[in-house]
Amino acid sequence: MSSNTRGSWGSRFGFVLAAAGSAVGLGHIWRFPYVTGENGGAAFVILYILCVFMIGVPILFAELSLGRHSHKNPVGAIKAIAPHGVWKYLGYLGVATGLFILSYYTLIAGWTFGYIFKTLLQNPVTFDDFSTNAPLNALLYVIFLLMTIGVVYGGIRGGIERWSKILMPILPVILIFIIIYSLTLEGAMEGVRFYLRPDFSVITGETIMIALGQAFFANSLGMGAMITYGSYLDKKENIIAAGTTVVAFGIVISFLAGFAIFPAVFAMGKSPAEGAALVFVILPEIFEAMPGGLLIGTLFFLLLAIAALTSAISLLEVPVAFLIDERKMRRKVATWLVGGITLIFGIPSALSFGASDFFSNLPFWTDQSFFGMMDYIFGSIALPLGGMLFSIFVAWRWGLVGANKEIALGNETFLGIQSKMWGIVIKYICPIVIFFVFLFQTGLLTW
Ligand code: PHE
Repeated sequence: MSSNTRGSWGSRFGFVLAAAGSAVGLGHIWRFPYVTGENGGAAFVILYILCVFMIGVPILFAELSLGRHSHKNPVGAIKAIAPHGVWKYLGYLGVATGLFILSYYTLIAGWTFGYIFKTLLQNPVTFDDFSTNAPLNALLYVIFLLMTIGVVYGGIRGGIERWSKILMPILPVILIFIIIYSLTLEGAMEGVRFYLRPDFSVITGETIMIALGQAFFANSLGMGAMITYGSYLDKKENIIAAGTTVVAFGIVISFLAGFAIFPAVFAMGKSPAEGAALVFVILPEIFEAMPGGLLIGTLFFLLLAIAALTSAISLLEVPVAFLIDERKMRRKVATWLVGGITLIFGIPSALSFGASDFFSNLPFWTDQSFFGMMDYIFGSIALPLGGMLFSIFVAWRWGLVGANKEIALGNETFLGIQSKMWGIVIKYICPIVIFFVFLFQTGLLTW
C-alpha cells in the first residue's frame, strides 16, 4: 500500500501538534505532579528532565525514523527490516501495549470527563462513591471511548490532525489561566518553594526508576506510537527538529502543571504527597473551598479531558494501523474492532476501585487491583522494555548507517557530530541504562 492510501500528515505543524497531543496527557497533568510530590519536588523534576534528554529523546528519534522508513505500524516497520525471525514480536508487544494501556487509560479519562460536570454542577459525590459506581463508570467509559473512536475513525488528516489542531492550542491557554489564579492565592509561595527547591536526599534507585518510567509514559515512547505517527511523515520533514519540539512542549506543560497544582495545594494546607488521589480528591476539595473555584475546577478537568483525548487517540491508532497495514482491514472496521476489545479489557479495570472485591484486590497479588496490575505491567514495565528493545533493534539490527540515512533525509547536518553522538547513545547508553534500571526494579540489584 502506498503511503498515500494509508494516510499522511497535511503539514509538519499538524504532525507536531498530533505528536505533542499524544505525549501530553494524563501522564503530564495528573501523574507528573503527584509523582513529583511523592518524590521530593525539584530534585525529581531535574532527574526526570535528565531521563527525557538522555534516554527519551534518542529513542524518540529511533522510533520516528523507523516509522518513516517503512511507512508502517510497529509490526510492519520491523518486518520491513527483519522479515523473518523473532524481532516482529517486539512489534506485537507494542500493538498489545497500546491496546492494554488504552483499556485502563480510558477509565481515568472518563473520570476527568465526569468531573467536568461534577464540578460545574457542584455535585457533592465523593471520589469513593464516584469510583465505585459501576453504571456511572461504564457510561463515562463508553462516552470517552466513543469520542476516541470518532476521531480515529476520521483518519490521519481528517481525524487525528484536525482534532489535534483544534484541541491542542486550548491546553496552554487554560493552564496559564489556572496558574495565574493558583499563584495569587495566599500561601501559594510555599508550594512554589517546595516545587523549586531540590532535595537530593530523597533520590534513590527507586526514584531513578520512576523518573525513567515517567519519561517513557509521558512521551508515549516504547510501544510504537511514535513509530506509527512517524509513518505518516513526509521524507522531507526534519525528524530531529519536529521530535525535539514535541518533547520540549511536553516538558513545558509538565513543568507548568506543577505551578498550577502545588501553590493551590500548599495554600489550602494540603500535603503534596497524596499520590494518585491528588487530582480527584484533594483538588476538588480545594476548588470547593476557593472563591472562583467553580470556574477554575471546571476548566481544570476540561484541560485534563482534552489532554487525555489526544493521547488516547494515539493509543488506539497503533493497533488500528496494524490491522490496516498487516491485515488489510478497512479503517472503520479496524477502529470499531479495537474499540470493542478495549472495552472488554476495560471492564475489570473499571471494577477495580471497590465495585468488585475480586478485581479490587487480586487474590494472586497482594495489595494489587486489576487496574494497578495493568498499569504496572504495561505502563511501567512494557514501555521501558519496549524502548530498550527498539533501541537495540535500530542500532544493532537495522544498523546506524540505515537509521542515519533516514534521519538525514530532512536534515543533512545530522550526518556530522550529531549522528555520532546519537549513535553512541542509542547503541550503548540506552540499552545499558534501561537494563540496569530493570535490575533495580526486579530487586536483583539494590541501591
Ligand atoms: N503520553 C500519554 C500521557 O502522558 C500516555 C501515552 C503513553 C500515550 C504511551 C501513548 C503511548 O498521558
